Amino acid sequence: MDKTVSETNLSGRALGHVRTLHDVRPPAPRSDSSSSLLRLPTDILPHRMVNVPRPPRPERILVADDEPWITEVIVDQLLLEGFQSDATNDSTEVMDLLSGKHYDLVILDIHMPAPNGLTLLREIQARDPFMPVLMLTAFSDAETATQAMHDGASDYVVKPHHGAQLAMRIVRALERGQLLRERAEAQALLERRVDEQTRQLRDQARQLTQMLDRMTVTYQATVKALEATLDVRDQSAPGHCQRVAKLAVQLARKMGAKGDDLLALEHGARLHDIGKLGIPDGILMKPGPLTEAEWRSMQKHPEIGRQIVAHIDFLASALPVIQHHHEHYDGSGYPDGLQGSEIPLLARIFSVVDAFDAQTHTRPYNTVLTAQKALDNIRASAGTVFDPQVVDVFGALLEEQALLEEQALLEGQAMVEEQATPDQNGNGTSDSLPR
Ligand SMILES: [Fe+2]
Repeated sequence: MDKTVSETNLSGRALGHVRTLHDVRPPAPRSDSSSSLLRLPTDILPHRMVNVPRPPRPERILVADDEPWITEVIVDQLLLEGFQSDATNDSTEVMDLLSGKHYDLVILDIHMPAPNGLTLLREIQARDPFMPVLMLTAFSDAETATQAMHDGASDYVVKPHHGAQLAMRIVRALERGQLLRERAEAQALLERRVDEQTRQLRDQARQLTQMLDRMTVTYQATVKALEATLDVRDQSAPGHCQRVAKLAVQLARKMGAKGDDLLALEHGARLHDIGKLGIPDGILMKPGPLTEAEWRSMQKHPEIGRQIVAHIDFLASALPVIQHHHEHYDGSGYPDGLQGSEIPLLARIFSVVDAFDAQTHTRPYNTVLTAQKALDNIRASAGTVFDPQVVDVFGALLEEQALLEEQALLEGQAMVEEQATPDQNGNGTSDSLPR
């Protein structure tokens, strides 16, 4: 033990020799007026009159006061109260002592040669925010003690003090420190759990996203496979499904459709004629007009398409387009003769685009029209075949996209029919309509 640090514990000191205030040499006079209150005669300091020690406690306390006689008194008081303690009269040693051994509480005199108690308090707080620190202060220095409390001290004790009073403050500070430490640990544990759960949720979200991506790829591959199957079966309109899917989505978006509706329309557009897989080659690929019997057979393809796709869950939302893309606004279409708003909106949108593409690209049963002529035909059928509102938006869309001009340039060499020829079914513009 060095000369400035005294260590006491119940095993190292015979209880019969516990030092009392009367054993301590009275303090020598000091020149600075600020410490005048410390120059109290020892016989007026309160002390434990009956030296009956408390049961030993596990906590260890570090005492720092530049007055040796005060640290000796406090060490004795702590010993009587059951605390183990070390003491130093050199404030420069405090942080090293804290680094070298575990302490549960520090008692600091406020007025010591540098570093003083307030400086040490800040250093201790920076090192361990939950270390309880009791400040020793003179009777007349309540303002400084208050400042110490503001800076994080657990409590302060005014010298001279009674051992029991000191013990009570120590116990209270220890309990408060323990409470704050436990609260901080619980908070840290909670934050770690939240971080862990957040990480797990992110992992799960990432896995779900990856699964969804794989499912989307699978869905797209399924649609492409079905589409390719139809392309192999019916080579009369190459690229038709991709074109109408793109243009139908643009039209639907312009009409305010979003998200799942756009996806349903895209799938429906790409697979709208999937039912033609069930139509005989002689009818499907016939270059000229169909007989009435052939036409009735051809008109079954929306229902056949519905039956093909009905068992594919992710294509359920595309069924209205597949089943109703040949309905007419006035109820004259097929297969169900729906009219007006009875026809699903996506089917009404699609039928306009389907008719436009059929008229502006080569089919076995028609001649190619310019985009303007095709649009004129569609406008002429607004209210009978097509939803007038959809036709209006479609016209605006074409104008916006300058498709009319582009189509005119691209199809400048195409044969232009000034008027559509009525078909055998009495539909005035049926040659301009897809089968
Ligand atoms: Fe069709």
